[in-house]
Amino acid sequence: MSDATSPRDAASREPSLSRRSFFKGAGVVAAGGLVGEAVQAAARSASLEPVCMEGTVEIELEINGARAKVAVEPRTTLLNTLRNHCTPPLTGAKLVCDRGSCGACTVHLDGAPVYSCMTLAVDAVGRKVTTIEGLASQGGLTELQSAFCAHDGSMCGFCTPGFVMSISACLESNPAASLDEIQRSCSGNLCRCGTYPQVFEAALAAGRKLRAKGGK
Ligand code: FES
Ligand code: FES
Repeated sequence: MSDATSPRDAASREPSLSRRSFFKGAGVVAAGGLVGEAVQAAARSASLEPVCMEGTVEIELEINGARAKVAVEPRTTLLNTLRNHCTPPLTGAKLVCDRGSCGACTVHLDGAPVYSCMTLAVDAVGRKVTTIEGLASQGGLTELQSAFCAHDGSMCGFCTPGFVMSISACLESNPAASLDEIQRSCSGNLCRCGTYPQVFEAALAAGRKLRAKGGK
């Protein structure tokens, strides 16, 4: 069995704290140098005295194997950070629903797919962020990306980076993933053009290629 985790699965395992309530909580903890886990812990703690959190914090992220220093407000999402605070901007992850329902913003955090619109940049500190731009080495295409081209896996293409990221994580853990497992891995991704049959064909074809190459 593959670990066919979808971004939606990952989101459903998050603590039962809505994005709105989290931001509300994060907005009343002390700024100082609080980042990542510390911000979350502070936000969850009911015993903290409310202190207005203002301004920006400078954080260092590891994105596609490179270190990137960015100055963001603690409420800034990873998606916003990638698209608007990185140099050069990383616009592969798309802003569509901005509320965790479409998967167009999917990236990998430590190899697992997550919705970057539902992830705070400060929570990515100390973790490996991979975007569609960094999936293949040296500007090439992965087997899955090539298969999307060969099997017409996109129409408008807006959802495509998210599908590629979700299915990549699935095939990475199990190149022999079944159709069911592939479908589950991208169950948190929506394609409004309805390109699902081609997406699944591409995923199965990429899996065959990866197995023929001996795994990855
Ligand atoms: S933009 Fe993040 S899930 Fe839709
Ligand atoms: S190809 Fe258009 S939304 Fe999926």
